[in-house]
Amino acid sequence: MSILTLQSVRYTYKSKYQTVEALKDVSCSFEQGFLYAIVGKSGSGKSTMLSLMAGLDVPSEGDVFFRGTSTRTINLDTYRRNHVAMIYQNFRLFPLLTALENVMYPMELHGIRPKDAKSKAEEHIRSVGLPDTVFNRFPSMLSGGEQQRVAIARALAMDTNLILADEPTGNLDSTASRNIMTLLARLAHERNYCVVVITHDTSLLDIVDVTYQMRDGILYKE
Ligand SMILES: Nc1ncnc2c1ncn2[C@@H]1O[C@H](COP(=O)(O)OP(=O)(O)O)[C@@H](O)[C@H]1O
Ligand SMILES: [Mg+2]
Repeated sequence: MSILTLQSVRYTYKSKYQTVEALKDVSCSFEQGFLYAIVGKSGSGKSTMLSLMAGLDVPSEGDVFFRGTSTRTINLDTYRRNHVAMIYQNFRLFPLLTALENVMYPMELHGIRPKDAKSKAEEHIRSVGLPDTVFNRFPSMLSGGEQQRVAIARALAMDTNLILADEPTGNLDSTASRNIMTLLARLAHERNYCVVVITHDTSLLDIVDVTYQMRDGILYKE
């Protein structure tokens, strides 16, 4: 079964002054074991689609199914906390926590004992290719590429197989970007994650398994 399926999804932003049809009829499926990219112009609807997949809202029409269950019928707070790991362009690490504490955080939320969370966090940080010397450093003492790796380690600390990333390489130089995208592909291929990445950077698409193109609220398979 697909981990995520969008079926005839429409989404309209309505305000007092205007109505924007951000998604017009999107249907697609995402499987574990693959790295997906969504490309498309600014304003085409990519972030709206990802936010529905992340359970920030439900579609205006149609459904997003997580393992066969519509996000309309589940508690979205629980869904976001337990099933979706998000990665952002600006990393969004907690600035006052060390790298290790950032990665321990989701495990502590889930009631894992600090001692166990610490050793697991160390494992996750090593598994994204960072040296032990980053454990006790604060995000401000790390490069952009290192911060994004810590953010990915924090995603691995969640008990889920779904990673959604909105422009994860948007703040990185081309070498760091390629390394991060390669790491995400490895998580999909070697650790059975479903990874969905929004990207502007078409030079990275050779690393991706499946590319979708968003155009004016409609999704096309490349
Ligand atoms: N909160 C919002 N209120 C009203 N319109 C919005 C809002 N967020 C996005 N939009 C509009 O929805 C469309 C799709 O936006 P978005 O999903 O952010 O595109 P992308 O991520 O591809 O740049 C755009 O026309 C955008 O202006
Ligand atoms: Mg966007």
